Amino acid sequence: MNARLHCTRWLALCLFSTTLFAASPDGVVAVSHPAAAAAGARMLAQGGNAIDAAAAVQFALNVVEPQSSGIGGGGFMLVHLAKTGETFIVDSRERAPAAASADMFAPDGLAMAFPLASTSGLAVGVPGTLRGIDTALRRWGTKKLADTLAPAIELAGHGFRVNRFLADDIAHDDGRTQLHPETAATFRPGGVPLAEGDWLVQPDLAKTLKLIAAKGPDAFYRGPLARAIVKAQQRSRSELGDAGRGRMTLADLAQYQVVIRQPLIGHYRGWTLEGMPPPSSGGLTVLQMLNLLQRFPLGDTAQGYGFDSPQTLHVMIEAMRLAFADRAVWIGDDDTMPVPQRGLLHPGYLATRAAQIKPDSRMDTPQAGDPTPWDSSTTVRPAPSRVHEESPHTTHFAIVDRWGNVVSVTTTIEYTWGTGITVPGYGFLLNNELTDFNLAPSADAVAGNPGANDVAPYKRPRSSMAPLLLLKQDKPVAAFGSPGGATIINSVLNVTLNLVDHGMTLQQAIDAPRLSVTQAAGQVSCEGGQVFMQPAFSVGTQDALRKLGHIGLGEAGTNGCQASIGSVQAVAIDLATGVHEGAADPRREGTVIRVKAPQD
Ligand code: GLY
Repeated sequence: MNARLHCTRWLALCLFSTTLFAASPDGVVAVSHPAAAAAGARMLAQGGNAIDAAAAVQFALNVVEPQSSGIGGGGFMLVHLAKTGETFIVDSRERAPAAASADMFAPDGLAMAFPLASTSGLAVGVPGTLRGIDTALRRWGTKKLADTLAPAIELAGHGFRVNRFLADDIAHDDGRTQLHPETAATFRPGGVPLAEGDWLVQPDLAKTLKLIAAKGPDAFYRGPLARAIVKAQQRSRSELGDAGRGRMTLADLAQYQVVIRQPLIGHYRGWTLEGMPPPSSGGLTVLQMLNLLQRFPLGDTAQGYGFDSPQTLHVMIEAMRLAFADRAVWIGDDDTMPVPQRGLLHPGYLATRAAQIKPDSRMDTPQAGDPTPWDSSTTVRPAPSRVHEESPHTTHFAIVDRWGNVVSVTTTIEYTWGTGITVPGYGFLLNNELTDFNLAPSADAVAGNPGANDVAPYKRPRSSMAPLLLLKQDKPVAAFGSPGGATIINSVLNVTLNLVDHGMTLQQAIDAPRLSVTQAAGQVSCEGGQVFMQPAFSVGTQDALRKLGHIGLGEAGTNGCQASIGSVQAVAIDLATGVHEGAADPRREGTVIRVKAPQD
């Protein structure tokens, strides 16, 4: 069969003649910061593969986007290997320490206030990013860890210009760059917040990265640096006293383990999707929503659907509400408590859920469903996890190399600036990932409810991170993801629909306004218009949604889409031509760099 027949409208290059087929396609990196993109491109230019490039990007992001991710945090890496067609997930999510307990954020039965808990050492999960990168490099990379650290060491030691986004995050930091002297000294030297255009040098971070380059990841997980991490996370906000001190020990750091997982696989309108399994909710919740939406002809304007149609946005909102109701109850760390993954994605179960979506009326607040009849892995029904703040930060990047290996990575230190604690003398921030657990436990022994996302020793907190791979006939065609806490899931959904249903190009799919609902109650947030000088959903469409009873859109007749939702980076492979493409989000300083393949 002619490969061109498999092209979709959104890969514009499919329209060109197959004579454009490049025997050795270019490598492409798509990253939220130009200096980090350049670090990845450098690896590709030096003959490295996508895994090498991903390592360099991640280390460079620690330097230029320190507020979002770094070696003090964790994340998920999706790796697709061109040679075997296999996809793997490198789970480097932070873990709770051995001494963690379900009630640690609610010692008196009442949850600590998030701003206090999340800026105390108690919130620090055992960091996984460095082990994750090292594991991926050892398995699939071609370069040494030290080579991939070189660009970051230069950026930290020589410095770089602070961009608008970093300056903005320092200026609007919820106090997090001011709480601890080491963090303030870096980002507010002399008490003055760094501004756009200022030059930032991070000698302590450069020293740490050099140490890791010389001695490997054990220099982080054992020895003096590990001791410094353990000591730093014993800091607590004075309001919490000893209850806010971190419980991580040297043994927790030494025993940290990355998990290599199989991707979660789903299907949507003839496409295959590979995404994150638990402990992230990213894959399950996106796949649930797509399945719920499959029955509606979202791309068909003749039937009243299409992009910016109230009908399309209405059914999207309803699918989000249903899937987030399930997420709140069922999804946590599957290694600790079984998540009924099969049931949550079973067509029989999803048919019962989809039946609740009415094209012309808004449903009452949906409850979570019961997938256990479709799943023999569990019979217990946890109670809903409590809703708490999730940060819009975190970061996502995607890479395809000239051999067709694809890497798609989301990493984070959780809230913007994490705990705000910089490890003294080592120059990197510690995450507050453990506040992704239920702050007050939902477990109830009498009712037999184990609390899917309650804190437990060694457990990983539920994540929303959702690097996604889209495949056609088992061949990867696009990989993308986003930051944004729970909104990550909806950003990934929006982009998938834009590509598959609305026929957009990769860049259009990213630029388009997005809509997000992260709770069954249905508070809608959406974006576009003045905020990013993008098109917004039209006011007429917003009014139609308001008339249906959807909440969160503000006054009738106005543009209520004032949120900022995500920052999507993506790569694509044109199946017909073999050409590799990239697209990045203008909502940050998204940058795509193409690295020319050597001519044979
Ligand atoms: N901390 C953000 C996430 O894991 O989704």
